[in-house]
Amino acid sequence: MTQTALQSINDKIALNDGRFIPCVGFGTWEIRDEAQGDKIIDLAIEAGYRHMDTASLYHSEKSIGLAMERSCLERQDFFLTTKIWIDDMEPQAARRSLLRSLDNLKTSYVDLLLIHWPRRNYTDLDWPMRIAALWEEMLRMQDEGLTLSIGVANFLPHHLQALHTKRPAVDQIEWHVGYEQSEVVDYCRARGILVEAWAPLGRGSLLTDPNLMELSEVQGVSTAQLCLRYAVEQGVVPLPKSSNLQRMQDNADIFGFVLKDEVKEALKNWPLSAYSGEHPDKAIPMMEPDL
Ligand code: A2P
Repeated sequence: MTQTALQSINDKIALNDGRFIPCVGFGTWEIRDEAQGDKIIDLAIEAGYRHMDTASLYHSEKSIGLAMERSCLERQDFFLTTKIWIDDMEPQAARRSLLRSLDNLKTSYVDLLLIHWPRRNYTDLDWPMRIAALWEEMLRMQDEGLTLSIGVANFLPHHLQALHTKRPAVDQIEWHVGYEQSEVVDYCRARGILVEAWAPLGRGSLLTDPNLMELSEVQGVSTAQLCLRYAVEQGVVPLPKSSNLQRMQDNADIFGFVLKDEVKEALKNWPLSAYSGEHPDKAIPMMEPDL
């Protein structure tokens, strides 16, 4: 389906492995199980989201499992992504991590399993060998049906090259207005790797940018809608987060308009802004302690 033909957040885009992914997902970083995260997932399901993006790091898997159970929808109505954290990159640890995630999510498979970061830290020089071995294990887990698709997150072109001829279905990167990582996107696009956007609203900080607010008025939509529609029109799958039903609905309501040429042009040339400071070779975030 082409970007302009997409009509709703659950319309699907083809992956390079023959499977399909809903064109907008719901981000669940910082939606913690311990803080009754399942209530937020209930709201996201009510707002229509079926594509849930989580990670072993996020502590939101149990919330998603509980909310899916309560929704009375079928497992196949959902698209679930989880990720292997940097401490679990050895093959056996990765397998244990996925099995734990499946247990938390109350399911026998995920739709997409990602390597969360390409390396453990700045001093980790063995990363090319490590991700090559991990990828082999991910292929085995895919063969066993524990995950339907496999991909990566926060991989730059030189990390993708370390997989040689192997082609991930997805690369999930920080991507938003003012930080489009065009080099990564172009590299992925040339190889049929779908780009997903974490922090598509710049973790909220883009939404108070007066210049962007002004541009949203030109388009006649909210600033969040402007950012998310831009992602979809660029062929990128945004994973917005919100704890509020109204804002979740606002973020899903991005299919009734097309960006004006002058707006698109302005967004393309937006100066660097809202960058998180995280970097796959230089600044990988640390694991949050278990509560
Ligand atoms: P809230 O949970 O109060 O809605 P990102 O997805 O880039 O990480 O951004 C998430 C942040 O953006 C959250 O702080 C969220 O706050 C805020 N947010 C999400 N959607 C909207 C919206 N439509 N309007 C205003 N703020 C939003």
